[in-house]
Amino acid sequence: MKKRKLIIGGNWKMYKTPSEAIHVAKALKVKLINVANVDVVICPPFPALVPVNEILKESNIKIGGQNLYWQDEGAFTGEVSAKMLLDAGCQYVVIGHSERRHVFGEKNNEINQKVKKALENGLIPMFCVGETLEERQNGLTEKVVEEQIREGLSGIEIKDASDLVVAYEPVWAIGTGETATPDQAEEVHRYIRELLSGLFSLSLGNQIRIQYGGSVKPSNAAELMSRENIDGALVGGASLDADSFTEIIKLSASV
Ligand code: 13P
Repeated sequence: MKKRKLIIGGNWKMYKTPSEAIHVAKALKVKLINVANVDVVICPPFPALVPVNEILKESNIKIGGQNLYWQDEGAFTGEVSAKMLLDAGCQYVVIGHSERRHVFGEKNNEINQKVKKALENGLIPMFCVGETLEERQNGLTEKVVEEQIREGLSGIEIKDASDLVVAYEPVWAIGTGETATPDQAEEVHRYIRELLSGLFSLSLGNQIRIQYGGSVKPSNAAELMSRENIDGALVGGASLDADSFTEIIKLSASV
């Protein structure tokens, strides 16, 4: 038995129009009707949040945003606020995803403000960290992840371990088909848990859930989930299809 309840997220990135998203959400609602021992969160693109929430509000599947801005409102064209996400039905929000960091240049101090704003509004951040291939090859994995955690969570207090989810997503494993081995992932997850214990408390560090993300698919999900410090997954490509996402969830739930 796992010490922590698994949490599996589907990050749909910039895929699916609202009508396509509705179609997949309807399928997931039916397929996952009996899954209760795993928290399931899907993160569709912003325009699909409201219609997808309409479908899922009476189900055990939660929804999340893929990003937010740290101001409450204002002249910030193209941005979305925590209150908007909440009103659209979100309980979670992905923050600091590697594509935000590497494609859009988000820095740790900006990510920190986003985490603060999410928590202030009662949204649960799915706070992402992870090293690039070059950083791993240069032996910098722990240094990079530590910096992302310390700076991203600087000045943050949480009352309950369920207020925060951390996602370890090695950049070299995202969308590449190359997954970290369960041993590689477990090693970093254990390190992240030590850091969280130091930042918060031993008890919170032990209870905060740490997801693995990067080419998770039905064929590797169960083995990853069997590791002590891996408490779920953040799934990109394989979450776009209701069958493969369901399979990942069911295989993980059976571990
Ligand atoms: P893939 O599962 O497509 O590798 O994406 C992982 C990811 O970035 C989830 O946030």
